[in-house]
Amino acid sequence: MVHVVLTGFMATGKTEVGRRLARILACPFMDIDSLVEVAAGRTVAEIFANEGEPCSIPRTAAAWPRPGPSCASRPDRKRFSGGWGTPRAGRSWRTRTAHQIGLRASRRCSPSAHLRMPLPPMRSTLPSSASTTSSSACAGSWRDGDGVQVVEAEARVTAEGAVQEVEVGLGPRSYSIVIGAGLLPGVGTRLASLGLHGRAAVVTSERIGALYREPIVESLRAAGFHPTAVEFPDGEEHKNLAWLAVLYDRLLEAGLERRSLVVAVGGGVVTDLAGFAAATLLRGLPMALVPTTLVGQVDAAIGGKTGMNHVLGKNLIGAFHQPRVVIADVDVLRTLPRREFIAGLSETIKYGIIRDAALFRHLEERLSEVLELRRDLLVGLVAACCRHKATVVGDDEREEGGGRMVLNFGHTMGHALEALTDYRRFLHGEAVAIGMVAAARVSRALGRCGSETVGRLERLLKRAGLPTEIPGGMTPTALALAMQTDKKSVDGRIRFVCVEEIGRTSFVELTAQEIVNHL
Ligand SMILES: NC(=O)c1ccc[n+]([C@@H]2O[C@H](COP(=O)([O-])OP(=O)(O)OC[C@H]3O[C@@H](n4cnc5c(N)ncnc54)[C@H](O)[C@@H]3O)[C@@H](O)[C@H]2O)c1
Repeated sequence: MVHVVLTGFMATGKTEVGRRLARILACPFMDIDSLVEVAAGRTVAEIFANEGEPCSIPRTAAAWPRPGPSCASRPDRKRFSGGWGTPRAGRSWRTRTAHQIGLRASRRCSPSAHLRMPLPPMRSTLPSSASTTSSSACAGSWRDGDGVQVVEAEARVTAEGAVQEVEVGLGPRSYSIVIGAGLLPGVGTRLASLGLHGRAAVVTSERIGALYREPIVESLRAAGFHPTAVEFPDGEEHKNLAWLAVLYDRLLEAGLERRSLVVAVGGGVVTDLAGFAAATLLRGLPMALVPTTLVGQVDAAIGGKTGMNHVLGKNLIGAFHQPRVVIADVDVLRTLPRREFIAGLSETIKYGIIRDAALFRHLEERLSEVLELRRDLLVGLVAACCRHKATVVGDDEREEGGGRMVLNFGHTMGHALEALTDYRRFLHGEAVAIGMVAAARVSRALGRCGSETVGRLERLLKRAGLPTEIPGGMTPTALALAMQTDKKSVDGRIRFVCVEEIGRTSFVELTAQEIVNHL
């Protein structure tokens, strides 16, 4: 169940917007004002008149609903809560289970115009409300007249793609992946709610930093952290030991200690490099990941693998280091280059074909809307993929049991294509798209799946704008050689992932030559 909590200072429209949203989405609405009045046996105006404004915080805290039978009674429905004051009490479960929307009053609008009572002195309420509003997932605005519609439209879009949480179950190393829209301003409070505090290094690339450094550093500062931004130049060519050394220097210069936090903000390059630094510096620092590419949100940021390139090959140096939380804000995908987004779609299609026929069908039906970056669909898509990756990782955290191997579907050929083209021609997801079609054709040749399966996969990838054919001029011998030298090949044999039907796979041991023979 998803709760939506509207927060904000008095007269910012929480009750009005809450009622409207509840009507639109057919959800129950709970007004904290009413709960306070019932508990006190008096109206809010009377409480203010008799006790003054300072009473608002403890009274609201006492009235705030706790997670329990009353909140869990309608698991299929969203619930809206509005009301006055936004107490610390219950903040932890709110940040875990609720999607928060902060409403602000514009300067032009006098709050007293909306109040049914005279304004009390506002010593303590203002800072408290302000800090909570800054922690909200999405700040709306209130203006007279059409203001309600503005807030409503914004909040509605946000609520439709309300926050989803996926748990990666790894015993003491378990963590949540939080997926939603407009999450960046709430990064600081979410991390603070996990008990993290003190110095925090926001590690990102210069390009991504220019876009997202400020809101994240600001939210950390507002939540009581001492943040520093550490940036390195953009690009895969910086995911190496030379830049790792530079990163160590900067993190130490920033005064990071054993309990300081590393917040990696970026695609797989950033999360791999920052993740490896966090895994090794001072024998391991807590880390949070804010993936900014689709590949990062559905793959690279989940599972704790960090990888550094060596002159002899990609990701040859690495460590497992699980983050404390992953915060995937789908809004950042709007600035992602189109080609990168489409390459990420390849990984989402992979989850469909290896584990989830319904997800595959959903992509077939709604692909054009996903390509238009519809927020609610993106939240759902990223969450679905994260659930699959979380399950696979939860069963085989360190790639020991072989369960994680299923994620390699399409990667045997994909890696070979990347290597043969010197990692310049294809983005990873593009090479994997060709590799998935090749894997499906090999599966068909082995009698494991029918032509219908191969055809559906090819059609969906093509519609997404992904390549599906091995480029002409690449000889079977060269392909076989490249697959043979892949680090996942053992004694010349490759554990090849076949598709049986959409959503179901199997393994077969093949030599690289046998794979190309079946293409
Ligand atoms: N550790 C793992 O489990 C894992 C899994 C998959 C991939 N990876 C690694 O991830 C890397 C690829 O990551 P990627 O596909 O996320 O690409 P990336 O990190 O290389 O980013 C791609 C490009 O997009 C830019 N960018 C990123 N987010 C942006 C945004 N929101 N707006 C504008 N520009 C943005 C980047 O600056 C970069 O130029 C590879 O090094 C790969 O080895 C690791």
